[in-house]
Amino acid sequence: MKENCIIYGGAGFIGSHIADDLIGNNINVTVFDKLNSSRRNVQHIINNITFLEGDFNNKIDIRNSLQGIDYAVHLVSSTLPADSNLNPLYDVETNLLSTINLLEECSRQNVKKVIFISSGGTVYGKPEEIPIKENHPTNPNCSYGIVKLAIEKYLYLYKELKSLNYKVLRFANPFGERQNPHLPQGLIIHLLYKIKKGFPIEIWGDGNVIRDYFYICDGARTINKAMRDGSEYNIYNISSGEGRSINQILDKFRGVLNLDFEVIYKQARSFDVPVNILDNTLAKEQLNWKPETDFDDALLNTWRYIIDVE
Ligand SMILES: NC(=O)c1ccc[n+]([C@@H]2O[C@H](COP(=O)([O-])OP(=O)(O)OC[C@H]3O[C@@H](n4cnc5c(N)ncnc54)[C@H](O)[C@@H]3O)[C@@H](O)[C@H]2O)c1
Repeated sequence: MKENCIIYGGAGFIGSHIADDLIGNNINVTVFDKLNSSRRNVQHIINNITFLEGDFNNKIDIRNSLQGIDYAVHLVSSTLPADSNLNPLYDVETNLLSTINLLEECSRQNVKKVIFISSGGTVYGKPEEIPIKENHPTNPNCSYGIVKLAIEKYLYLYKELKSLNYKVLRFANPFGERQNPHLPQGLIIHLLYKIKKGFPIEIWGDGNVIRDYFYICDGARTINKAMRDGSEYNIYNISSGEGRSINQILDKFRGVLNLDFEVIYKQARSFDVPVNILDNTLAKEQLNWKPETDFDDALLNTWRYIIDVE
């Protein structure tokens, strides 16, 4: 019999790619997303999924959504790293409390496993060593990272108290088709959109901030792997394992995509750590996964996508 997976926040950027991958693996997919949320990202698979409209903060919606579900993938977030420090109370209320409710319901309804997409870019804080392994100290400098970490700890607690299985995937910086160019979180898509529009691009700091960018289709393949993973490990870095500065990315725009644009450098932001590169050895060894898409090919796919986005 086919297994049933629900993806909370499944109509978003990461969720829609996960849905593609799980359908390809012959799993029944339910996408749970906000009332009136755009279905554009899942339009191509709308006949292959069940689309459930609901509010992640609504207990009844969560209770009803979990009937007959084997796996729950949690992708809902009401905040971003950049805005979460403005209202930590809101961050905790809308992300942490509702997640604890989800875990309560998952254990009550005997869900086999919860997969949580955490943030490898914020849970560690300023790195003490590079590349960052999963056992690196965690000192987030934004509420968003603190809440992600707190969710990881509650997952651990529910495993201890109620035997609810879980896997945490700490994503570095995914990029690719369907990422929202209007949000500050996805640097590559945001910059490409500005360039397409003919606007100058603004960089916080001197462009030497290093991040670990990986193609979302590679990242999406980790969810099915995490579902099958029976190892003792519950937390994995998901990343390319390679660092690229913003200036190196701009050079790729010029060299690979043949783009011409104006750059304005602005004051650095306090919450941007200078470098973040995640060691993905554990995921390679335990999940039998590796990022496979060439960076330049991924960049070309992203550019072809953004050309058609208004
Ligand atoms: N994009 C990244 O760079 C990145 C990196 C690491 C971790 N993450 C985490 O991965 C998750 C997904 O990120 P994304 O980039 O796909 O975001 P996204 O905004 O594209 O998708 C999130 C989806 O959640 C839905 N949603 C929000 N609030 C909801 C609610 N109350 N009820 C139901 N649905 C709701 C939105 O409508 C949206 O479709 C987030 O938790 C994010 O913090 C993202």
